[in-house]
Amino acid sequence: MDRGIMRSTAREFRKYYNPELHGELRLDTNTNVLGPNPAAAEYLSKGKWELDQYPNTYSDRLREALGELYDLEADNFIAGNGSDELLDITFKTFTDWGDGCVVPVPSYTLYDYFVRLNGGKVICSELTEDFQLDTDDIIKQDAKIVIMPSPNNPTGNCFRTKDIEEVLSGFGGIVVVDEAYAEYGKDPMIGRVEEFDNLVVLRTFSKAYAMAALRVGYAAANRELAGMMSCVKIPYSLNMISEGAAIAALKDQDFIRRSTEMVREQRPALSAGLEKLGFRTFPSDSNFILAECPVDHSVFTEKLKAEGILIRDFGDKPRLKNCVRTTVGTPEQNSLLLEKAEKVIRECR
Ligand SMILES: Cc1ncc(COP(=O)(O)O)c(C=O)c1O
Repeated sequence: MDRGIMRSTAREFRKYYNPELHGELRLDTNTNVLGPNPAAAEYLSKGKWELDQYPNTYSDRLREALGELYDLEADNFIAGNGSDELLDITFKTFTDWGDGCVVPVPSYTLYDYFVRLNGGKVICSELTEDFQLDTDDIIKQDAKIVIMPSPNNPTGNCFRTKDIEEVLSGFGGIVVVDEAYAEYGKDPMIGRVEEFDNLVVLRTFSKAYAMAALRVGYAAANRELAGMMSCVKIPYSLNMISEGAAIAALKDQDFIRRSTEMVREQRPALSAGLEKLGFRTFPSDSNFILAECPVDHSVFTEKLKAEGILIRDFGDKPRLKNCVRTTVGTPEQNSLLLEKAEKVIRECR
């Protein structure tokens, strides 16, 4: 059947990144390289659930635990099936057919998908030379939402707080700050949601919390906006097993500290190692590094995969010519990455 049968906004869609795996070391998805969250794993090993019952409709217990962590109220939060669900909820709640949504370029590839899926129109706003926000360009747009990841994926840097504040006060719509990697960064906005009437912050348990398999994410906003978003969210979308594991994980902040400290230690060493091999690396406030390849990006990524290491290729994307992105690994993983990268580069020359 012709694709014309599909909803017009989805007709051009293709399936998302889904690499074929043969036991490679995964440095392509920026998950926590220290392995599964220990508190969540213990909870799962002991848990008993009433499998015949529905979970709590709005994950109230998790939202209460988040309120305690951030010194906010449970009603400031909406919990869901990964922060990707919260992205979907945000656009479903605030955009109408044809509404403009400002998306920085380069940034998270799925924003485009969620905007278009929900009938919105993507308005690209190029980041500056040093990958910061062009605040004037964003503020002047006729748009309902602006979304930005800080730290930004795939460039790795945080946006300046004063620029985010400028957008919050100058832009006429909802400002979404996606803090998927905020545990590694600086000056997060999540604690400030009651200060602004147009701020939505997104967070995830997939990265520093080392629970990507369980698909837990959340949004924080002032209670009025959060209430609107809750009405749009699909009831029961976060299952009770993942909710319980997330609550257990929140109690072990020491694991988050250990994880982020390791990244802060390893990041400069990995950057220096890559530079020595001829890469140009970009400054990162996250658990990954963007680097311009000294050889062809796609050949490099493919050959590295054959050597057992998976990283992510961005080399054909706007502003990211010949760039790849790698998660910062443990010292052992980084040594292996540098050793294999050197071998591949030698073969390419
Ligand atoms: C910037 C950003 N936002 C959101 C997500 C999605 O996270 P989740 O696993 O919570 O859906 C990712 C995942 O890579 C990301 O990089």
